[in-house]
Amino acid sequence: MISRDVTTSRVDGVAVIAITRPDKKNALTGSMYDAMSAVLSLSANEAAIGAVMITGSSGVFTAGNDINDFLAHKGDVTASPGLRFIKALARFEKPLVAAVDGAAIGIGTTMLLHCDLVYASPSASFKVPFVDLGLTPEGGSSVLLPRRCGMGRACELLLLGDEISAERGERFGLVNAIVPAQDLYEHAIAKARALARKPQKALAATRKMLRGDPNELAVIMEKEGREFAARLTMPEARAAFLAFTQRDRTG
Ligand code: COA
Repeated sequence: MISRDVTTSRVDGVAVIAITRPDKKNALTGSMYDAMSAVLSLSANEAAIGAVMITGSSGVFTAGNDINDFLAHKGDVTASPGLRFIKALARFEKPLVAAVDGAAIGIGTTMLLHCDLVYASPSASFKVPFVDLGLTPEGGSSVLLPRRCGMGRACELLLLGDEISAERGERFGLVNAIVPAQDLYEHAIAKARALARKPQKALAATRKMLRGDPNELAVIMEKEGREFAARLTMPEARAAFLAFTQRDRTG
């Protein structure tokens, strides 16, 4: 157990990663990323695991990176646990399924772009407010979002920072299906189990064809990572982080 805020389990041939820090809207810290990376690494090496499922808590997927960690940031984000996790996700060779209930913000949405199947409850929402935070896209989203949704929709998400509903997420191609919240977990795990039971070599080869060259994406992610890292300590980003952490919540 690397982090108490990430709960891991196994259902048949599926490794399940649940983000469980609901009091902080599942905001992700370094140890949480490391815990998720550890599951990916173990699952990659274990023949009995045929798929990985990522989910959040009831009512929230994740509010993205912990903004306090952004504020505390001084060193090299290109070696950060968050970047390590998203790189591991991009290179992961077994199917990835996500079940999203509530908000998926920042890396919460970015990580879905690396998943093969995404199921959402009617209350799911998606948002990549990097620009509003004085930041730039990460985790391959600068190419994966336009590829998946089209350029106009990617601009709406990445430039305006608009939040979109589950319904729009489905129309945008981010979501495979909307499932009632009470059935979401079972529905997603059934799909993950179905994938885990397929002929694994044919499945892996098909997945590889669909995803394109991982080295090309790795180069883009490095470039995004350097830009992102440079912005973390800039005044407009610091001001946005402080505006969040010091916001007035009395009203
Ligand atoms: N980093 C750190 N803490 C976070 C967080 C984040 N990304 N998102 C939420 N939290 C914390 C809040 O500070 C609050 O903590 P507190 O109770 O100790 O004060 C707690 O989670 C509940 O959040 P709150 O904002 O009160 O809930 P809400 O229902 O009003 O709003 C969100 C939920 C997710 C819409 C809102 O918290 C939010 O916008 N979070 C930031 C999202 C973001 O910009 N992420 C970074 C993307 S790169």
